Amino acid sequence: MDARSTRRIRRSGFALAAMIAMSALLFKTPALAAEPEAAKKTEPAVKERIPDVLAPSPAPAPAASATAAKMVGREVCATCHTEKAEAFDKTFHGRKSLSNPKLANACESCHGPGSLHAESGDPTMILNPKKLDSGAAAALCMTCHKDKALMMWKTGAHANNNLSCVTCHSVHDGEGRKSLSKGATDTCLTCHKKQKTDMRLASHHPVPEGKMTCVSCHNPHGGIEGNLKADSVEEQCSKCHSDKLGPFANEHPPVADSCTNCHAPHGSANERLLKQPIQMLCISCHRSAHGGSGPTSTQATTFKRERCVDCHKDIHGSDRSPFFAQ
Ligand code: HEC
Ligand code: HEC
Ligand code: HEC
Ligand code: HEC
Ligand code: HEC
Ligand code: HEC
Ligand code: HEC
Ligand code: HEC
Ligand code: HEC
Ligand code: HEC
Repeated sequence: MDARSTRRIRRSGFALAAMIAMSALLFKTPALAAEPEAAKKTEPAVKERIPDVLAPSPAPAPAASATAAKMVGREVCATCHTEKAEAFDKTFHGRKSLSNPKLANACESCHGPGSLHAESGDPTMILNPKKLDSGAAAALCMTCHKDKALMMWKTGAHANNNLSCVTCHSVHDGEGRKSLSKGATDTCLTCHKKQKTDMRLASHHPVPEGKMTCVSCHNPHGGIEGNLKADSVEEQCSKCHSDKLGPFANEHPPVADSCTNCHAPHGSANERLLKQPIQMLCISCHRSAHGGSGPTSTQATTFKRERCVDCHKDIHGSDRSPFFAQ
């Protein structure tokens, strides 16, 4: 059995213990009792509730006659929508419509054949993606976009909360290659206020400094766990902190289980993004450490003075010491 599968087994055993402990906590918290979704998943993190501002608008079916329409080409659309067309040419899709066959029909690649609308100027004779419900708008974009990053879309938290592609992307007014209405981080912070606050705490990832963005870790289009780019928290973190995950001869089980057992990913008032001050953090799991067998008086005073990690330096795991000392 290799080190990786050993870790997996320990991981699941540990997760189970954590779940049992957590379920006791969950049912004590009134906020969570009102939110069966979160309770069902038995996830340790308390989820932020985002107001339901995103209820889908009813989808007006495109006028039946529009299906009988024919393609007329960009120049015809531009006669009436001059500004819109000129602005569109400068966008990423606009530029790509000159070279990429998928966009050969320019405006009508997305809006559908427009002859009937172009003759009449009747807005009900053309498809306006803004008026589609979130599922239909996403389906429109996904006729061309089936990238790997979008594979999880339908099962993701965003699709299930009625976000659609055009909530974040604007193919007409968006910035840059990704056609975003705002920068990647600002896009997220319009809705995720808790993370905005967390990122202002003393210890945080350098997102506010612009050295990282929310999408350094997250895939806005969904993911297996927590909309992360990797399949699990510890794999995500170890993309940049590979030395922490091991495998080690002596593993510290909560590390391989999830970095978030000890660290808050977004920010913390404690040093090193720790969820609690170090002593309290360690003692939350090791209540009887040194005490179980009765610490000597020297040890007792030492512990008041020294941080646990002053001695247990290789806290993420060690090849040398079963006590993570150096
Ligand atoms: C004869 C002028 C004319 C032409 C040509 C024309 N449009 Fe329009 N279009 C209008 C008018 C008028 C409206 C309704 C007022 C408005 O929203 O600006 C409109 C509205 C729209 C809307 C919004 C519909 C809604 O539900 O609000 C879209 C999308 C649109 N046009 C796309 C196109 C496309 C794509 C083409 C080329 C195939 C095109 N138009 C050609 C005049 C025109
Ligand atoms: C890649 C897909 C795509 C292409 C190509 C495209 N549009 Fe759009 N268009 C959209 C989407 C999505 C919306 C609605 C949301 C938005 O404004 O971003 C929209 C909205 C519009 C509207 C209505 C704006 C409003 O305020 O309701 C008009 C008019 C329009 N497009 C015209 C055009 C014209 C003219 C072209 C070609 C020069 C064009 N579009 C090319 C996707 C596209
Ligand atoms: C008719 C096909 C088509 C439709 C529909 C379409 N796109 Fe695109 N899109 C393209 C093409 C082609 C490219 C350029 C791909 C390339 O050459 O890299 C592109 C590029 C993009 C990119 C940048 C991709 C990258 O790799 O950086 C984004 C973001 C994007 N589209 C979003 C959207 C959104 C959101 C919608 C729906 C409103 C949409 N697209 C609808 C064809 C389409
Ligand atoms: C919650 C906001 C959000 C939603 C909703 C969203 N996107 Fe994105 N999308 C982003 C951001 C942010 C990026 C830039 C990612 C990066 O730079 O790594 C992106 C990137 C992309 C890209 C470029 C490829 C990539 O992964 O970098 C495509 C294509 C794309 N989005 C299409 C879509 C489509 C299609 C939908 C709807 C099914 C959609 N997006 C929904 C925020 C969003
Ligand atoms: C328009 C509002 C909106 C925007 C913009 C938005 N989100 Fe969300 N996001 C939501 C909602 C609603 C949920 C579901 C909340 C819940 O689970 O309580 C969610 C959930 C999430 C989750 C939790 C996923 C899970 O499975 O637990 C993550 C992570 C996330 N969003 C990241 C992002 C990132 C990164 C961006 C920017 C690229 C972003 N969001 C932009 C509304 C938004
Ligand atoms: C260093 C990586 C990283 C960065 C950067 C990051 N996140 Fe997260 N985020 C995580 C991890 C890990 C989780 C927990 C996932 C889990 O436990 O399933 C998470 C969870 C979330 C959740 C679900 C609720 C929660 O707090 O557990 C939301 C919403 C979220 N992130 C939004 C954001 C936003 C918005 C940004 C940018 C301001 C951002 N994240 C930046 C790693 C990151
Ligand atoms: C995209 C790369 C990246 C990912 C992914 C990432 N980090 Fe970081 N991390 C950084 C950078 C950059 C710093 C800041 C280093 C510095 O300031 O010297 C940092 C710093 C830290 C620190 C030290 C903070 C301090 O106050 O000194 C901790 C702890 C940390 N990360 C934990 C995590 C955890 C846990 C995860 C997974 C949820 C994670 N990181 C994912 C890039 C990343
Ligand atoms: C059992 C609790 C615990 C777990 C689980 C844990 N850490 Fe830590 N981590 C700590 C403590 C305590 C410190 C502070 C050590 C110090 O200050 O000497 C730390 C410090 C760090 C630092 C900053 C200091 C440095 O050495 O660069 C990074 C980065 C980090 N951890 C990443 C991770 C990653 C990645 C994971 C998951 C693979 C993880 N941690 C899991 C307790 C933990
Ligand atoms: C989330 C719970 C958790 C946290 C927090 C935690 N540990 Fe552990 N630790 C464990 C588990 C589980 C073991 C495996 C041994 C066991 O089952 O008792 C372990 C093992 C150890 C060991 C190896 C000795 C032994 O009993 O096998 C040391 C030393 C240790 N931890 C120190 C620390 C220190 C110091 C901290 C604080 C930085 C800390 N731990 C935080 C759960 C935790
Ligand atoms: C002065 C150095 C030092 C400090 C400070 C220290 N330890 Fe230890 N710890 C050790 C040594 C050495 C061992 C190896 C066996 C022994 O002597 O008990 C050990 C063993 C352990 C063990 C495994 C044996 C047991 O008693 O369960 C745990 C768990 C542990 N320490 C947790 C902690 C925690 C939690 C803290 C902080 C409150 C801490 N240690 C502070 C040196 C220290």
